[in-house]
Amino acid sequence: MSSSASSPAPRARDSWSGQTGFLLAAIGSAIGLGNIWRFPGVAYSNGGGAFLVPYLVALVFVGIPMLWLDYAVGHKFRGSPPWALRKVIGGGEFIGWFQTFVCFVIMVYYGAVLAWGVQYTIYSVNAAWGEDPTSFFTDTFLQVVPSDTFSWSPAWAVMIPLALVWVLVLLVIGRGLSKGVEAANKIFLPLLVVLFLVLVVRALFLPGATEGLNAFFTPTWSSLADPQVWLAAFAQIFYSLSVGFGIMLTYASYLKPKSNLTGTALVAGFANSSFEILAGIGVFGAVGFMAHQQGVAVADVEGLTGPILSFVTFPKIISMMPGGPLFGVLFFSSLVLAGVTSLLSLLQVVSGGLQDKFGWSASRSALVLGVPATVISLALFGTRSGLNNLDIVDNFINSIGVVSSAILFAVLCAVAGPKLSGLRAHLNSVSSVKVPKLWEPLVGVVIPVVLFVMMAMSVVNLVNDGYRSYKLSFVLIFGWGSVLVAVIAALILTFIPWRHRPLDPHATVAQILAEDVRSAQTEGGDK
Ligand code: ALA
Repeated sequence: MSSSASSPAPRARDSWSGQTGFLLAAIGSAIGLGNIWRFPGVAYSNGGGAFLVPYLVALVFVGIPMLWLDYAVGHKFRGSPPWALRKVIGGGEFIGWFQTFVCFVIMVYYGAVLAWGVQYTIYSVNAAWGEDPTSFFTDTFLQVVPSDTFSWSPAWAVMIPLALVWVLVLLVIGRGLSKGVEAANKIFLPLLVVLFLVLVVRALFLPGATEGLNAFFTPTWSSLADPQVWLAAFAQIFYSLSVGFGIMLTYASYLKPKSNLTGTALVAGFANSSFEILAGIGVFGAVGFMAHQQGVAVADVEGLTGPILSFVTFPKIISMMPGGPLFGVLFFSSLVLAGVTSLLSLLQVVSGGLQDKFGWSASRSALVLGVPATVISLALFGTRSGLNNLDIVDNFINSIGVVSSAILFAVLCAVAGPKLSGLRAHLNSVSSVKVPKLWEPLVGVVIPVVLFVMMAMSVVNLVNDGYRSYKLSFVLIFGWGSVLVAVIAALILTFIPWRHRPLDPHATVAQILAEDVRSAQTEGGDK
């Protein structure tokens, strides 16, 4: 494995300027594309109002407990996932790098959806999609090739804003945590909330909005007996809260020693879900208007999930609406603002990991990670195969990469290092809300088992049926391949020796010396 932690030179880490900066960044990370385009459609197709039951159960019994685990490990061990999990147990570093590369894979396609949002903000001004938003999206804008062909040919309308998105986020990350990520969140998150509130209020005053809300909230109680609905709720909470794959762990590692961890997690979790439900209200208010204009029932409106909801159905609504261009600009710029703050959090995991391991500055890490990330992102998602590649990578990295990373993380913390009892004691020593003992079996047993069942069902389906109608070779390369790339990259980074030791800027000299002695004793053989 890597060299002993006692030999590398220490280097002080950056930190949040205060609890508010951290809270805004944590909420900014959670509120993302998943809240605006994913949640409304998932909730609607999984029982409508009744979906709120499994969704809230998932928030309280999976989301918040996992968030507490992320915060506990990041805060206790003061490092990005590779460092923190290496402190739990030597071999844990591999799981830390696996989480880091899962974030890398997500960020290279996440940026592409932001680029679509940037273009559609501009297209909204004159409803550039014309009479047929469906063919405009796939044929004119993305210029998608059929799903059984591959193309390196650029889709310039995506490639140019995508390059700009990368330049912007790398500049922010290169400025470091407090001057870059924290400062950006302090501007973007309040702006997002204001723009989105205006949008929701406007949607609620549209004719037909009430029918949309009725369709969204009318519960289909029988759906609660369907295990798929429960799995959909767990998956949504996981993706939406950004838990279990390194993001919240990384963010918590930059907190000051006396930080209220559990209370902040509750605020972040409930703020994220409130925004999500607000997004459902805004989106279905607008969908109700569309059904009203077309003289059909909301149930008969097509295209209420995923990218189609945002990039086909919304343009149709915008074209029908008085003041449509303004509504369009509000909607797509909200999507971009929500996505940028989540993308920054994904980047910070990778940047923080490199800074911790190699002692690089934020700007050097941004350069080292930014060049390959931008090239891969442009080559795979800025080209005419972009939509197909994105669809496959997104499905595999979420249903297998993110979920397996969370299972490994929870199990590792349950069996090694301070174990869950030690982490609970750490949370309770600094926090206002005390973590009950029940948290330990929940995180150590129940959640990994539930996640494992979820992942096994996905794997069985993917192995038996493939993924949609894509060719097997594409599913192997982009689907299974994206998970394999994360595993291989994690192995390589784990075997590279540590060049620096991330140092807590708030530690006293006595604490640093004690840590050196402890590391030398417990990791002497870890060379
Ligand atoms: N939590 C982020 C989202 O919802 C990843 O998009």
